[in-house]
Amino acid sequence: MKIIAVVSMKGGVGKTSVTANLAAVLAQDAEPDSIAVLNLDPQNSLHMHFGLGIALEEGVACQTDVEGDWGELAFPTPYNVINLPYGEVSEKQRKAFEACLSAHPDWIEKRILQLGLPEEGILLIDTPPGPSLYLRQALACADLVIMVALADASSYATIPAMESWLSNMETHTTLDNCVLVLNQLEPDNKLNRDIAAALANSYGERMIPFGIPRDDEVSLAFAFQQPLSHYSPDNQVLEIFQQIADWLPLD
Ligand SMILES: Nc1ncnc2c1ncn2[C@@H]1O[C@H](COP(=O)(O)OP(=O)(O)O)[C@@H](O)[C@H]1O
Ligand SMILES: [Mg+2]
Repeated sequence: MKIIAVVSMKGGVGKTSVTANLAAVLAQDAEPDSIAVLNLDPQNSLHMHFGLGIALEEGVACQTDVEGDWGELAFPTPYNVINLPYGEVSEKQRKAFEACLSAHPDWIEKRILQLGLPEEGILLIDTPPGPSLYLRQALACADLVIMVALADASSYATIPAMESWLSNMETHTTLDNCVLVLNQLEPDNKLNRDIAAALANSYGERMIPFGIPRDDEVSLAFAFQQPLSHYSPDNQVLEIFQQIADWLPLD
């Protein structure tokens, strides 16, 4: 099984949308029960991309038993993507969960391995923006890190800080297994094009050579609680997600 952490320095860049839509595209060609998503972001919205709805309260943050596992927290969906939501938790529960993460650096990895996903399985982890206990846990087990950014001045300015966090978090992650993907690209915007070109130049082979365009249907699919692949199967952004899926260095 391969684990992909999806990270960013800033919020609102599309981490959760990329996690959900990439997982759904990977799941189209995958064996049943081999693609999963884990939400480590207390915003707890990833599962809504798969129609699991806001009423779902259970999630990994509800489970603070050191001997516990996630067997009952792995929700199947009609999209062939198993969902492990963060959970709808009180402040007290969140603090208890974070205390577990702080005390056990392998808390997440251990439970992922207990899930018993197949050898060819892929699990994508959505994380909150910036450095956190959640990011550290995700990096501790990730085979590949996808950093999501916009081609705007603000993302451009914060990417070096994120790279510094990624390489200094005392996990096995190195920048060699961190790749960058640009989201919400606007081909008609010159600054956006120029920043994308500058990033491609400095990231070289670590930049995923397929940028994701800004497209209202990405937002609409979320509003209708479906992955883009089901909400709008002919949308051209799906080809980009497929190219990204094929490009990912997972072997
Ligand atoms: N490629 C895209 N085109 C249009 N809207 C997008 C795209 N990617 C993300 N969005 C929208 O941007 C907003 C933030 O995305 P989200 O995935 O929640 O970001 P993050 O997880 O980084 O905070 C959401 O409203 C989402 O629907
Ligand atoms: Mg998010």
